[in-house]
Amino acid sequence: MERRLLIAGNWKMNGLSKDGLELAKGVASESKKLDKCDFLICPPFTLIAAAKKALRGSKVALGAQDVHFAEKGAHTGDISPLMLKDLGCKFVIVGHSERRADHGESDELVCKKAKAAQEQGLTAVICIGETDEQRTAGKTIEVCTKQILGSVPEKSTYRNTVIAYEPVWAIGSGKTPTPAEVEEVHAAVRKVLAKKLTKAQAAKIRILYGGSVKPNNAKEFLSLEDVDGALVGGASLKVADFMAIATNSCC
Ligand code: PGA
Repeated sequence: MERRLLIAGNWKMNGLSKDGLELAKGVASESKKLDKCDFLICPPFTLIAAAKKALRGSKVALGAQDVHFAEKGAHTGDISPLMLKDLGCKFVIVGHSERRADHGESDELVCKKAKAAQEQGLTAVICIGETDEQRTAGKTIEVCTKQILGSVPEKSTYRNTVIAYEPVWAIGSGKTPTPAEVEEVHAAVRKVLAKKLTKAQAAKIRILYGGSVKPNNAKEFLSLEDVDGALVGGASLKVADFMAIATNSCC
């Protein structure tokens, strides 16, 4: 089964109007030279409208970094899936470990968010990953299995779902698992997806690796059998680095 690589940028809480616009424009123009993989950028909410304009005419998809599960209502400070759709988003990240840690988000809540996003026609990028402590205790597969079972909605398909495996200890640390360790988790995740959904869906769902992906290590992860792209934080904030991740591995 051919799964197109997806190179996704998670800008996190970075970017003001001027630099955000330049970054989005840079990705839009550079991506035109590359047609072997798909691109996605997820700016902070404040830059989504500007990014939408900058991406016009390019194939770079637009996403958000979080969403509420309700369509509208009394939820001060939150943003609904319908609002994201209205802004032109096609994707939304849910269950990033920073949200699980900073906002106490549970698998159950992540699942509700993913389901609500899917119901609005958005693709949910559902994040999972173990902490350093859990890895040391040999619990990586157990933890990721539990997160997949709890966070992925029942009716997920390859069209409305992307999984991102991001070991918490690898995020922003410059540390990464070995390619063999990444492949082991991705293959295990695909097996769990096959049980939870169907074999056919599991074979088509993209599973991204995230955690200190840089131009110099991207290829070793992206060439693995069950790795279908990357979720990139720090290195997505510079056009040259973000594009080099793609050129070094997809093209
Ligand atoms: P990083 O972040 O590339 O800066 O490690 C990845 C992420 O958290 O999505």
